[in-house]
Amino acid sequence: MSVQSAIRRKTAPDIRARKNGEPIVMLTSYHAHTAALVDRYCDVILVGDSLGNVMHGFETTVPVTLDMMILQGHAVMRGSQHALVVIDMPFGSYEASKEQAFHAAVRILKETHCGAVKLEGGARMAETIAFLSERGVPVMGHIGLTPQSINTLGSFRAQGREEGSWEPIENDARAVAQAGAFSVVVEAVAEPLARKITETIAIPTIGIGASAACDGQVLVLEDMLGLSPRAPKFVRRYGNLGPMIEAAIEGYATDVRSRAFPGPEHVYGMKAKG
Ligand code: KIV
Repeated sequence: MSVQSAIRRKTAPDIRARKNGEPIVMLTSYHAHTAALVDRYCDVILVGDSLGNVMHGFETTVPVTLDMMILQGHAVMRGSQHALVVIDMPFGSYEASKEQAFHAAVRILKETHCGAVKLEGGARMAETIAFLSERGVPVMGHIGLTPQSINTLGSFRAQGREEGSWEPIENDARAVAQAGAFSVVVEAVAEPLARKITETIAIPTIGIGASAACDGQVLVLEDMLGLSPRAPKFVRRYGNLGPMIEAAIEGYATDVRSRAFPGPEHVYGMKAKG
């Protein structure tokens, strides 16, 4: 008798097949509990290396390690049932060679049971994307602004603002698609360029700060919930949880200090002696 789950998760080919179809809904999650919520509404959950900023307070994603991604990937897999879970390959785990990338990706897939990995870079990563895809590792690309390159970029600037600067980004999109990626995140590029790329390549584009012209959208969950102290300007807030959480913590602290905190009798119905 099979012990496989009766629940079928979305797969990389399912997402690939959404080109020009129903828009792909994707959010990040790093924990079991938020993954369970995100799973109800999203096609794809990204365990992004943005966890370095959000969970660990790093200034950039550069310090994030493979072990950190695998640990949080496990949590998201436990919390979700339906969405495709994609785990970011962190800086330093894939750039040296296609073999290095394969070993890191295999660790991610084997240890977490997630359905795909994501890596940053266009034409320069095409050979690696082909190597992984041909060997059973579904790859989501990531072009435009690539935050892991912050130390060479100098700042998190929008890409392709002038039409004269579009060509390298268009080449990146074509290279990633031709190499066999099943979809590609397009970050912080101007709307006309995002539209042109989306119309040109055969795989779905998933935009972040790249307009509605893409085949889907992704945001960092904490940014759209109003929990991040510094969210990018393009992020639309769908909630303002920061002040709500602070008010709850303040209420708790006030109760404890004023001894208004309910004792165990509140729960167990115990009677005070004397
Ligand atoms: O790490 C991340 O969360 C990402 C998204 C911003 C696309 O790569």
